[in-house]
Amino acid sequence: MIIKNIGRLTGIVPEGVLRKEGAAMNETGEILDAWLLSRDGRIADFGPMFSCPSPSDGEEVIDAGGGMLIPSFCDSHTHLVYAGSRDAEFLDKINGLSYEEIAARGGGILNSSDLLHSTSEDELYRQSMQRVKEVMEFGTGALEIKSGYGLRPEDELKMLRVIRRIKESVPVTVRSTYLGAHAIGRGYTHEDYVRMVIDLLPEAAPLADFVDVFCDEGFFTVEDTARILEAATPFGLRPKIHANELAVSGGVQVGVKYGALSVDHLERTTEAEIEALRGSGTMPTMLPGSSFFLGIPFGNARGFIKAGLGVALASDYNPGSSPSGDMRFVMALGCIRMRLTPVEAFNAVTLNSACAMGLSHELGSITRGKKASFILTHPGWDLTKLAYTYRTPFINRCIY
Ligand code: NIG
Ligand code: FE
Repeated sequence: MIIKNIGRLTGIVPEGVLRKEGAAMNETGEILDAWLLSRDGRIADFGPMFSCPSPSDGEEVIDAGGGMLIPSFCDSHTHLVYAGSRDAEFLDKINGLSYEEIAARGGGILNSSDLLHSTSEDELYRQSMQRVKEVMEFGTGALEIKSGYGLRPEDELKMLRVIRRIKESVPVTVRSTYLGAHAIGRGYTHEDYVRMVIDLLPEAAPLADFVDVFCDEGFFTVEDTARILEAATPFGLRPKIHANELAVSGGVQVGVKYGALSVDHLERTTEAEIEALRGSGTMPTMLPGSSFFLGIPFGNARGFIKAGLGVALASDYNPGSSPSGDMRFVMALGCIRMRLTPVEAFNAVTLNSACAMGLSHELGSITRGKKASFILTHPGWDLTKLAYTYRTPFINRCIY
C-alpha cells in the first residue's frame, strides 16, 4: 500500500529510539507533503512527495488529500473488560461522595465484581468488544487490558480468557495484565486474599503478559505488592503497578525494585519518586482521565520531564474512575491540565505509551519496520490543533 499526498507525516522517530525522555519529549520528526509505503503490514519506506515511487502491480494507493498521518494511539492502561455499568455511582459522585466513600459503601470495584460474576463469559466478551471497537474508532492501535473485577479465582480466569479472545479477534495489538490484587474479594480476609492471588499465578500467568497490584492506601500495601511480584517473577510476568493515586504509597519504589515496565497513576508524588525512577527503565504513566473524572490532582508531568524523565499517558478506561477510552481527549487533558506541549503529549500517547507495554520496538512511531498502524486525518490538521480544538472530528480513517 502506498499513501501519497500526506500533508504532514508526523511522529517520525529513528530506529532504536524506544522512548522519549526529558527535553527529547518535545521533539518529533515530520515531513511536509510526503508519501509512505507499507508492505506486509509493516512500514517499508517514506519520504517527500517528489521522490514518491510509482505503485507496483496490485499495490493499493491511498490519496491522503493533504491530511496528516500519525502513528495510532497506544493505550497502555485500561480496564475495559467489565460487566454492566456503575451509573448509580455516578449520581453518588455528583451528590458529593468521593471514590473512597463509594468503595466503602460496597460500590466501586466490588460492585463491578458482583456484576461480572453474574455475567456469562460470552456476554462479557460481547460487552467488552463494543468498547474495543469504540476505542479503535478513536484511533487506538494498541492497548493493554487488565483483569481485576473477578476477585475470586474462577472470575479472574474468566476475565483473562475474555482478554485472550479479544486479542485473537482484533487487528490491533492487545496486551493482557493479571490484576488479581485490585481489591479484597468478598468473604476473604486480607491475608487469605493475597494468598489466593499468589496461588492463582500458575493458572493466570499463561493467560497474561504482565502482573499488576493496586498498591495504595486502603487497598494493598508495599509488603503485599513485594510478595506478589516476587511470586510472579518465576512466571516471567513483568510488573505494571497502580501507585500513588490515593496517597504517597511507596508503590513507585517497590515497582522499580522489581523492574516494573511502568508505574501508573502518580497523582501524588514527591521528589523521592522522581529519584527512584531516574535511570530505572520504568515508564512513569499518568492517567489524566481519572484525575479529571474524580476531581483529584493531575500528575506532575512537568516536574518529571524537567528531571529528565519520560512520561506516558493512558486512558485508564474503566467504569469507576475514567469511563472514557478516548486517547485524543487524554492528549488534550495532558496539554490543558498538565501543561504538556502538544508534541510532549503526542509522544506520551504514542511512543512512550507503547514503551509502557513493551511494544515500542513495534508501535508508537513512524519508523521503518514498525507495524503499519496509523491515523489519517482530514486535511489541515496538526498536533496543536488536535489538542486545542479537542472535540472537533479529525479522523478520516484508521489503518491497522
Ligand atoms: O485505575 N485505581 C484502581 N483501579 C481503577 C479503578 C477501578 C474502578 O473503580 O473500577 C483505576 O482508577
Ligand atoms: Fe487503573
